[in-house]
Amino acid sequence: MTAQALLRRATGLSVSKAMAERAVRQRMERTGQDDSAAYLAGITPEEMTQLVELVVVPESWLFRDPQAFYATVELVRERWSRGRTTRIASIPCAGGEEPYSMAMALRDADLPRAAVSIDAYDLSPACIERAQAGVYGRNAFRVQDVAFRERYFTHVADDSYRIVDALRTQITFRQGNLLRFDTDALGKHYDVIFCRNLLIYFDKPTTRAAIAKLSALLADDGMLLAGYAEVPAFCQHGFAPLQYRQAFALKKDDKPPAIRPAPLPQPVRNKPQLRSVPSLPAAAPTPARPGPPSTPAPIAAAADLLAEARVLADRGLLREAGDNCHAHLAREPEAAEAYYLLGLINELAGKMDLADNYWRRCIYLRPDHYEALCHLALLAERNGNHTAAATLKSRAARIYQRRQASAGH
Ligand SMILES: C[S@@+](CC[C@H](N)C(=O)[O-])C[C@H]1O[C@@H](n2cnc3c(N)ncnc32)[C@H](O)[C@@H]1O
Repeated sequence: MTAQALLRRATGLSVSKAMAERAVRQRMERTGQDDSAAYLAGITPEEMTQLVELVVVPESWLFRDPQAFYATVELVRERWSRGRTTRIASIPCAGGEEPYSMAMALRDADLPRAAVSIDAYDLSPACIERAQAGVYGRNAFRVQDVAFRERYFTHVADDSYRIVDALRTQITFRQGNLLRFDTDALGKHYDVIFCRNLLIYFDKPTTRAAIAKLSALLADDGMLLAGYAEVPAFCQHGFAPLQYRQAFALKKDDKPPAIRPAPLPQPVRNKPQLRSVPSLPAAAPTPARPGPPSTPAPIAAAADLLAEARVLADRGLLREAGDNCHAHLAREPEAAEAYYLLGLINELAGKMDLADNYWRRCIYLRPDHYEALCHLALLAERNGNHTAAATLKSRAARIYQRRQASAGH
C-alpha cells in the first residue's frame, strides 16, 4: 500500500501524495531506515501514530469564530432553566483551544459548572497532551480582545500562559478518531457537538461517513456547530441551518432532502403531451430512465411544471421529470430553478457531467443559488478539484452568512 493510501485509511484525511511521501521520508530519517517499501510494510501502530502526527493540521486558537460559543451559552442557559444539563463534545479539539473557549464563555455567562459536561477528542495524541497541559503561546491569543486572558490564565513564562485549574479540570480530553467512534456506546449522547474545520480535510465519502457518525452521536434535538465552509456538506447530509448569526449552527433536519420527499398520495394521472415541447437549443438531453416503467405526466400549467417535475423525480421517473423541466424552460428560459432540478435529476441518473453543466447554468442565472453552489462544490471535491471546491464552498458560505444576516440574527 502506498504511503498516501495508508495515511488515508488511518485518518480519513485527503493527504496529497507529496505530503505523504515527505512524512514517510522524515520518519525514515528519524528511525534510521532507507527502504520506504520495507518501512511501510513493517509499520507498527506506534510508528503509525508518529507518521500521522506529521500530516494532521492542528491549527486552532482561543475564541475562534466566537459566535458558536455564544449560541451554545444561550442553549445551555435555556436548558438549565428547565433543570437540564447539557452534554457538549468538541471533535476535533486540536490543542484544547475550542473546549476551553466554551468553558470560559459559560463562566462569563455565570452558568455553573454543573450545567454542562465537556468532552474533547482529537486523533492526535500530541494534541491531547497539549490540551491537558493547557499552556498556550501568542498564536492562541489571536482575537482582538484578549481580556479573557487576565481572567482565566496565569502567566508561566515569556509568551506562555496556563489555563486555570478550575477550567482545566472541567474538560475530559481523550484521543479518538471520529471515523471509528463507537456510536453504540455513545448513541445520541451529546446535546451539542462542535465539529469545526475537520471535514474540509476529507473527501466526499469520508465526509459522508463523518457526518453519519456525528448524526449518531448527536441527540435528536441537539445542535451541531460547523466550520463556515462545512455548512454545505452538512446540509447535503441530513442537517439544516439554525438561525444564530455567524455561529454556523445546524440541527438534524426533520425534512427529507428536496429531491427525495415522500411521494405525494395521488397517483399521476394522464398521458403526457410534453415531449412535443422543444428543448432549449443548448440543453443537453435528459437521462435515460433507470427505474420503473414510465407513468405519464399530466399537462401542467407553467407554475406547476417544476413542482410536478420534483414529484416525478421522486418516483424515479427521471425522463419525465426532465421533460417537465425543459417544458418549463421553454416558457421561462431563465428559470434557474429548472436548471438546478435538471442537475439533481442527472445526478440521480449518475450523469455527473450533465449535472455539473446544469448547475453551472443555474448559478450563471442566479449567482446566489446556495444549493447549486453546494452541489458543485461537492462534485468538484469528488473529482479531486480541491481548489475549485474550496472557492465554491466559500461562495456558498458567504451566501449563507448573508442570508443569516438579512434574517436579522
Ligand atoms: C484544524 S484542527 C480543528 C480544531 C478546532 N476544531 C478548530 O476549529 O479550531 C483539525 C484537527 O483535526 C484532527 N483530526 C484529523 N483527523 C481526525 C479524525 N479522523 N478524528 C478526530 N480528529 C481528527 C487533527 O489532529 C487536528 O487537530
